[in-house]
Amino acid sequence: MATAGFALLGHRSLALGLLTAMVKTALNPVFPLPDPLSSLLLDWYDRNARVMPWRIGPAERARGHRPDPYRVWLSEVMLQQTTVAAVTAYFRRFTARWPDVAALAAARDEEVMGEWAGLGYYARARNLLKCARAVVADHGGRFPETRAGLLTLPGIGPYTAAAIAAIAFDEPATVVDGNVERVMARMFQVETPLPAAKPQLVALAETLTPAQRPGDYAQAVMDLGATVCSPRNPACGICPWVSRCKARIAGIAATLPRKSPKPDKPIRHGQVWIGHRDTALLLERRPDKGLLGGMLGFPGDGWDGTVGDAPAHAPWRDIGEIRHTFTHFHLTLRVHVARIDTNPQRGEWVSLPRPSDLPTVMRKAWDLARDHIAG
Ligand code: ADE
Repeated sequence: MATAGFALLGHRSLALGLLTAMVKTALNPVFPLPDPLSSLLLDWYDRNARVMPWRIGPAERARGHRPDPYRVWLSEVMLQQTTVAAVTAYFRRFTARWPDVAALAAARDEEVMGEWAGLGYYARARNLLKCARAVVADHGGRFPETRAGLLTLPGIGPYTAAAIAAIAFDEPATVVDGNVERVMARMFQVETPLPAAKPQLVALAETLTPAQRPGDYAQAVMDLGATVCSPRNPACGICPWVSRCKARIAGIAATLPRKSPKPDKPIRHGQVWIGHRDTALLLERRPDKGLLGGMLGFPGDGWDGTVGDAPAHAPWRDIGEIRHTFTHFHLTLRVHVARIDTNPQRGEWVSLPRPSDLPTVMRKAWDLARDHIAG
């Protein structure tokens, strides 16, 4: 009897289960399970991905191609602290001149520093070369395929390792740049200001990273942040995540992420001397370590922690000043020019340097000086 009762109960619960499933199916169009956020974003990315020279298109992806790790690495290093628009021309020149990591590893330091001029943060260019040489010397010319392996390379930190592992090798690594921080702060309505909020934003970003297409997903969040979830005027109306964004629902999307006020940058003053002779300019290669490390520049004084005299006795003319802002200070530089007929005590004569080989601050000084020198 007891057994029959259980059997009856068993049938009953089976019937109940079936009934529940039927009701759920019937209600499904009305109360569908929410799509995972990652699928919503990947669908959006398939329609809206920005075209970039280091990306591959959907057709190639469908044929099983993966982006070239060398190009992904180079683009990620260039993109640190710089916009996609600024990087694209540099990327094309670099890859035309050095199409793979072995070619870059074999380049002369000065050539690479020259091509990098204008992108700023010159330690990145020196580390770029170190890394290319390590890939060739220690890894047979192939980038390691995991985040842990990539982290062992010079100049590759947690961000770059995660980006290459995800984009080139489809490891489900979470990639968090400033755009992603902004998207996460809004999605989860994180009101703690940056930079204190960073670990929380990384942890939240990790909860959304999918196992499927993590490389596309990583780039999709960055694209969303760059184009839709923009700092001042987020275009919430066209956002694939609009209905699930807590900050949007609370009406405060544009106010996030909050940021702790940054200390004011100090102003430094200094001078540079632009000596010329026929078609040559007097330049100094700067020490490898420190500001504009390894770059060509005009001899200077008083602005970068070093003290120096004019490089030669000459009728120096003060032709005005230029301004430039570095990460940690604003700089005002007085610019002097003179034709030099004696042997200089500093610097070396460089024939017809390409102005584009100079870092931006030196190029500004040169732009001011060139009219005073012509003729
Ligand atoms: N910012 C840095 N890397 C990027 C990438 N691969 N796609 C979009 N934005 C980026």
